[in-house]
Amino acid sequence: MKFIKLLLLLLVIQTQAQQGGMWIPSLLKGMNESEMKNLGMKISAEDIYSVNKSSLKDAVPQFDGGCTAEMISDKGLLLTNHHCGFDAIQNHSTVEHDYLRDGFWAYKTSEELPNKGMTVMFVIRIEDITTKVLEGVATLSIEAEKQKKIQENISALSNSLPKESWQENKIRTFYDGNQYLLFVTETFKDIRFVGAPPSSIGKFGSDTDNWVWPRHTGDFSLFRIYADKNNRPAPYSIDNVPYKPKKFFPISIEGLKENDFTMVLGYPGRTTEYLPSVAVNQIVETINPAKIEVRDAALKVQDRFMRKDQAVKIQYASKYASVANYWKKWMGETKGLKKANAVASKQKFEKEFQEKVIKAGKQAEYGNLLTDFNKNYTDIKDYALARDYFVEVALRNTEILSVGYKLYQLEQILNSKGEQAFTDRKNNLINGIVDFYKDYNIEVDKNVFEQLIHLYSTKSPKQFLPENLINIDALKLTNDVFSNSKLTTLNSFKELLDGDTKTVIEKLNADKGYQIIKSMSDAFIKNVSPKYDEINLKNIATQRTYMKAILELSPKSARIFPDANSTFRVTYGKIKGYKPSDAVYYEPFTTLDGVMEKYVPGDYEFDVPQKLIDLYNAKDYGNYASNGKMPVCFIATNHTTGGNSGSPALDAKGNLIGLNFDRVWEGTMSDVYYSPDICRNIMVDARYILFVIDKFAGAKNIIEELEIIDSKPIKKK
Ligand code: ARG
Ligand code: GLU
Repeated sequence: MKFIKLLLLLLVIQTQAQQGGMWIPSLLKGMNESEMKNLGMKISAEDIYSVNKSSLKDAVPQFDGGCTAEMISDKGLLLTNHHCGFDAIQNHSTVEHDYLRDGFWAYKTSEELPNKGMTVMFVIRIEDITTKVLEGVATLSIEAEKQKKIQENISALSNSLPKESWQENKIRTFYDGNQYLLFVTETFKDIRFVGAPPSSIGKFGSDTDNWVWPRHTGDFSLFRIYADKNNRPAPYSIDNVPYKPKKFFPISIEGLKENDFTMVLGYPGRTTEYLPSVAVNQIVETINPAKIEVRDAALKVQDRFMRKDQAVKIQYASKYASVANYWKKWMGETKGLKKANAVASKQKFEKEFQEKVIKAGKQAEYGNLLTDFNKNYTDIKDYALARDYFVEVALRNTEILSVGYKLYQLEQILNSKGEQAFTDRKNNLINGIVDFYKDYNIEVDKNVFEQLIHLYSTKSPKQFLPENLINIDALKLTNDVFSNSKLTTLNSFKELLDGDTKTVIEKLNADKGYQIIKSMSDAFIKNVSPKYDEINLKNIATQRTYMKAILELSPKSARIFPDANSTFRVTYGKIKGYKPSDAVYYEPFTTLDGVMEKYVPGDYEFDVPQKLIDLYNAKDYGNYASNGKMPVCFIATNHTTGGNSGSPALDAKGNLIGLNFDRVWEGTMSDVYYSPDICRNIMVDARYILFVIDKFAGAKNIIEELEIIDSKPIKKK
């Protein structure tokens, strides 16, 4: 009996341990493939990534630099999140044609809308080129020289390694500099907007529900890739034709249940899973709280104005959402790291690590790593904090300062590169700034400035502050800046840049707003960044050796995946509920019933469109329902992060069952510390997506393009 219990326990530990991690698609054979099959996968590693035949990877591009998308028809149709298409949808919107509020559907291809600057990138193949990148590096002893040599090798290799003329070679590091992979890619530039539900579906629950389960958001939008006549990337042209992908996903509406296998393919941005305990402690105690406080202040101001004025709401919708997103994530992450005792469990890991080092007789090489980390992270603390205050206050959240910073860089260019470079940049700036002022509201920014400059002056480490921002009267300074600076309107901005170089520089330096950002930037560049960079470089070197040691001293079977770095990855797991706290259990599926439970008529986050209410009342769900209910979202143990938005969620056969868009609040710490008990990714159910396109929008043209898999009898209604 005892033996059986032990066996069962082992089994539980094993299936738990088989989850988490973001793996490289070209390296799944072996350990990952057998884990995936154990979890229920019915296809092979070769079906996911192959250089010889079309594979799932050919249907999963990176969307517009920061998200993921998937091909769902042989005519270039792609699916991604509403929040990934958000900027584009906002750009096409005006108070009269508000596609954010009302949604948008192209009922024929001629109605699709082009998007300037939007890109979609496919990975053609992946190759390990570590030896080539590290050639001539081992003999160098100074870290900065090593980095320089590596950069030189990378740029030489990017040019010399074979590729087609329309492709690109991208080289990225894995395991903190212990491995280098080449990605040959193709980037499409003619991407057209096909459809999106109104925000009351696509962003339902908005910021209140963001990062939260149970969730009821239909977070999707549709675009189409256009290519030239040879099916290759081309700039926008009326003559372009829909792209024919090598592979697209059939969509399964056969139904899901708890413990079903799922996997997610995509481009996770950044994780730091192998930080030492001292660094995690710093995130929890110092860095996150500071960043949260700054954003909290900025968001409160924006929210106040957005609620008062529909025009401001459109202007600030996208900015607000992106600032709020990480603000809320950092709060969840901090909480989760504390609750999971991440610091203590890292400390335990470190103790064992140290023992392994001794056992392997590697003290000379690895014995000092942890002491080095301790020293470096203690030394860097104030610099890191000052850096975050500068970034959050000046570059990220106060618009007059972030636009002023562009002018600061302009002046720097004059000093470093001369007058021609200055004039070129100046002209670029003037052209590019129009969009900025379109969404700029002086009242909002003035109130943000007052709050944030106060925080900067009182909370950022004193020893690095510029003199003019010590002991300030924030209100007085704000009034002064906003009544005198020319950075507050497009016309005065242009005026400021009008004239010969000398005049422009004089005018800039006489401008009150410019003076503030200049003194902040000067102080940062002089007092903070040199030292920060110096210590950070040490940390990079220590982290690389630490990673090397971990890889070397762990058993062959250990599941050590490389941190996310915006490259193509596969993660897998099971559909599963979780227990966020004592006596509470969350089920893994939500339905339209929950949308109606959350419905608050007229509310900016929880309103529901009348048409959706009508469909709900009539239970007019077509073939998309499950046991009479309309599925909306579900969760699983896939290990995802920012950048995985829009990623396809696939079933055991590789069919599309959902669209990844978020993680649960209690599990956002997975960027630093993944726990299979509590970390869950959130997906929109593919059936809800089809239901919205079909029943809500009546876009039969889109439905007809898709390959839908359903063995249930067709329900006519
Ligand atoms: N949390 C998701 C992600 O990281 C969704 C973000 C959408 N933005 C928002 N503020 N609701 O991207
Ligand atoms: N919403 C995130 C994104 O934009 C994905 C959620 C996450 O961070 O896991 O990529």
